[in-house]
Amino acid sequence: MNDNNDISVRFAEPDDLDAMAEVYAESFDDFQPRLSIEQYLRPQGTWALIAWGCADGGERPAGYVLSRTAADEAEIFSIGVALAFRRRGVGTALLTAMAEIARLRGAHSVFLEVGIDNRAARALYSKEGYEIIGHRPDYYRNAGGERVTALVLRKCLENTENRESS
Ligand SMILES: CC(C)(COP(=O)(O)OP(=O)(O)OC[C@H]1O[C@@H](n2cnc3c(N)ncnc32)[C@H](O)[C@@H]1OP(=O)(O)O)[C@@H](O)C(=O)NCCC(=O)NCCS
Repeated sequence: MNDNNDISVRFAEPDDLDAMAEVYAESFDDFQPRLSIEQYLRPQGTWALIAWGCADGGERPAGYVLSRTAADEAEIFSIGVALAFRRRGVGTALLTAMAEIARLRGAHSVFLEVGIDNRAARALYSKEGYEIIGHRPDYYRNAGGERVTALVLRKCLENTENRESS
């Protein structure tokens, strides 16, 4: 679907759950990564992209993004990149592919939430054109148990006439 520096991005299939869970476990403090991903993907309209890349002499899961499209809005529930692939453009490739698919499915904007203290993710989203549209105080709890504000971000997608029916 999308190739960038030996990174390929495609729609995830049920067989990719373990690979996504591997990346999720490296990205978040969650002792049931596979179950969390399954729960994210349960509601209608959800879909996932997975990135693969070469590391340690073989092809390995490099990242994933979990999303939903509903009416003219899309949402990102979770994005993670494996430690070995960070700062190699995987997060950017996933966001780009996600936004293009959302646009083709009729979305005018993409929404997501990010911890105010998540420097890496905030930098990535800012670079990709996401803007802060709201604050949710005490929304997350960090590893130390402290409450953390979530920022609500939005990116407006360009309109085109040529949309895929969802
Ligand atoms: C956030 C995350 C997805 C970024 O993925 P990535 O593949 O490393 O990102 P990219 O290589 O595409 O980076 C694109 C840009 O984002 C910014 N960025 C990414 N990581 C950064 C970091 N650690 N510090 C500062 N800026 C960073 C930079 O501007 C970077 O461009 P540059 O490398 O040319 O300077 C990854 O760090 C991750 O999985 N983190 C843990 C999970 C997480 O926090 N997910 C988001 C939850 S809302």
